[in-house]
Amino acid sequence: MSVRAATAFERCGDEALEYDPLAAEAITFRYDIELGYKRHHLACMDKARRGDLGALDPLSRNGFARIPVLSAATSATLVDRIDQGGGALSPKDLSRAEVDTLFEEMFAGPLDTALRRFFNCLYGVLFVDFSVSTPVTDDVLTRPEGLSFNWHCDVAPTPYVKLLVYLTGRDEHDGATEFLDMATTAHFRRAGYVYCPRPQRVADLTELARLHGIGFVPERLSPERGEAAAFSPGQVLHKGIPPTHGKRVLMSVGIIPAPADWRAFLASNYGYMCNAEIGQFPQVA
Ligand SMILES: [Fe+2]
Repeated sequence: MSVRAATAFERCGDEALEYDPLAAEAITFRYDIELGYKRHHLACMDKARRGDLGALDPLSRNGFARIPVLSAATSATLVDRIDQGGGALSPKDLSRAEVDTLFEEMFAGPLDTALRRFFNCLYGVLFVDFSVSTPVTDDVLTRPEGLSFNWHCDVAPTPYVKLLVYLTGRDEHDGATEFLDMATTAHFRRAGYVYCPRPQRVADLTELARLHGIGFVPERLSPERGEAAAFSPGQVLHKGIPPTHGKRVLMSVGIIPAPADWRAFLASNYGYMCNAEIGQFPQVA
């Protein structure tokens, strides 16, 4: 495994000093949980959401945002490639030069700023995946393949952003994703819903929200062709809204913090990215 994003050791001056990043976890528990700073922060976030925080980036503030990523032309080209592949495409079907060109376009615009603000550091692409979805019948919603249409958080690290880049726009399928922001999701986490057993996932959280006094105002993102729903899937509850017609073609991109820019990360992670399945997280430290 070639991905190593952090080091536990730093050399400082003449002395070799060992720094243990995990030591911070004990301090965080003491201050955030025992001393109540986490609850205080959540309360402050609740308050801020009702105020004017227009200067803050939506991805950092809420944990999800709609962000333009690719041109309509690039999106259409990728849809053609997927059609040529019989409805499937993998990053290893693209040449390295095509991947470079694709990423240069993705990170040339506002996504770069949003990711830097979200992570407070540089970032790199861990996975890329292409998928096609079409309208589903109601019975699919109760089967394993329909679980993403119920409210859930992905099992994922906290510092992780997933992009669902819409290669076909909402007008072509009416598919979407609904989100609850990070502060609201934290309330549902305390209520025990987040990471509950899969059969206990539900499509409507209104009743649970009422029982726990949680404000429940989902926001639906329906990106245009070339736009992404960018979100932190371990920190925000979300659920898919299946297409009602046509087909939704998505490029899913998994992004994690990185010690150098995305080009350097790609150079070391290219082989992993070509062969990994989305959601398959390697050891990074
Ligand atoms: Fe998900």
